[in-house]
Amino acid sequence: MTAVGIDAIEIWTGNLKLDLPGTFAPEKGEDPEKYTKGLGLNASSFPDSYEDIVTMGANAAHRLMERKGLEPDDIGRIDVATESAFDNSKPVSTYVAGCLEQVYDGDFHHANKGERKFACIAGTQSLDDACNWIRAGRNRGRGALVIATDTALYARGDAGEATQGAGAVAMYISENPSLVELSTEQGYGSADETDFLKPNQQFPSVDGKRSVQVYLARMREALEDYESVAGDTHPDQFAYVPFHTPFPGMVRKAGLLVYRHMIRDTPIEEELADEIGRQPRAEAFDDEEAFRDALKEYTDKLKRTDTYQDWYGKTIDPTLTISREVGNWYTGSVHVARVSALKHGLDNDLDLAGSQLLVGSYGSGAQAEGHAETIQDGWKEEIEALNLEEQLEARYDLSWDDYEEIHDVHNHDMDVDVEEFTTPEAEFVFDGWGRMGERK
Ligand code: HMG
Repeated sequence: MTAVGIDAIEIWTGNLKLDLPGTFAPEKGEDPEKYTKGLGLNASSFPDSYEDIVTMGANAAHRLMERKGLEPDDIGRIDVATESAFDNSKPVSTYVAGCLEQVYDGDFHHANKGERKFACIAGTQSLDDACNWIRAGRNRGRGALVIATDTALYARGDAGEATQGAGAVAMYISENPSLVELSTEQGYGSADETDFLKPNQQFPSVDGKRSVQVYLARMREALEDYESVAGDTHPDQFAYVPFHTPFPGMVRKAGLLVYRHMIRDTPIEEELADEIGRQPRAEAFDDEEAFRDALKEYTDKLKRTDTYQDWYGKTIDPTLTISREVGNWYTGSVHVARVSALKHGLDNDLDLAGSQLLVGSYGSGAQAEGHAETIQDGWKEEIEALNLEEQLEARYDLSWDDYEEIHDVHNHDMDVDVEEFTTPEAEFVFDGWGRMGERK
């Protein structure tokens, strides 16, 4: 079967940043380490007043097309994944196509356009749809443009406020991809949940503590379901395990859960037995609560072992570098984690071609999905071409007053005078709700 997957990727971060330990923590009267060590975040990315999900998505897609020498005729499908859409009828992909048509000779009249919604997992679902469209042979030699774009904002004072972020990820999906091939095996964990909702409202209603438990429960189901089709997983099988990253502290918990599951009945569990005992098995307990307590005790010990810490340091921690500086990008977040991992490989001159990733996506509401990816020969050139560090460096550092103002600007319910903190440079800019961005 021909390999299908992500040929290239580009990231566009919001042009502003909020420093969490330096600006947010003092204003909230909190210890800065709650953010840097507890949640694992240094900063959040914010859109300037001339940016929105359309402009960020179009800017990422434009960079991708320019770098890969793509023309509209090379793209047979444009899917946008977002949970920040402002139009209940037209998909955001039509607005993005409208932007891109301003700068290319050709148009996208031939391209099938859509919008995917299932909270943060929609980015992976769009990627999946694009791969399936190609595998089904309906692409007529063309690739698909998948864009995950969000302004992940919470109401001021909400516990989620520290985890905000904004940005877009654009991916070109094709046959014989340069970056990663996606496995056809997948696993799901899906249930009707109400811990994170946005019913006709801009900011989410969140039961934050419960959302963490739901994430972990669905992720465990997805891993078990993945193993039921792909066979047991093992910690040494994967170079990196990128997860949906609402904040790095969440992934600390997910990494531990996945590792504990993977080492069951392996020599690793045996080797650790003298140090921390064997992992408790549900069958050995009559009482569910007693089993849960025993499992928690084992997990607390496992977390502290050198064996786990070494694995975490090389397999999970590198996926979090970008997230620490940008916060949650909802649909784009797991795709940022993949880039972060591969950037680590590049910076450390690792030979990753042929190695595997286990990708764990998640969306509130709630669904988790797991699949494997095989890193392709062209991965280094693709990752080397990204200018993410420059983008992060160029962001304007918001004061607290600036932050409150820009937060109001992006609150659709408010009529706020718009001030620009930065000057757009060769990029699409927002020019009013329901219109497409112009290129400045
Ligand atoms: P909180 O009340 O701000 O924080 O809410 P906390 O008190 O729970 O502390 C967080 C961590 O910091 C804890 O570590 C503390 O111990 C530690 P943990 O026990 O979890 O390992 N801490 C400190 N560490 C060092 N020094 C200190 C210190 N103080 C505390 N001084 C909460 C946290 C997650 C509830 C909040 O941020 C929230 O509501 N976030 C939004 C919801 C969210 O992101 N949920 C994640 C799962 S759901 C998901 O991922 C989907 C989502 O992306 C949406 C979608 O799919 O569309 C959100």
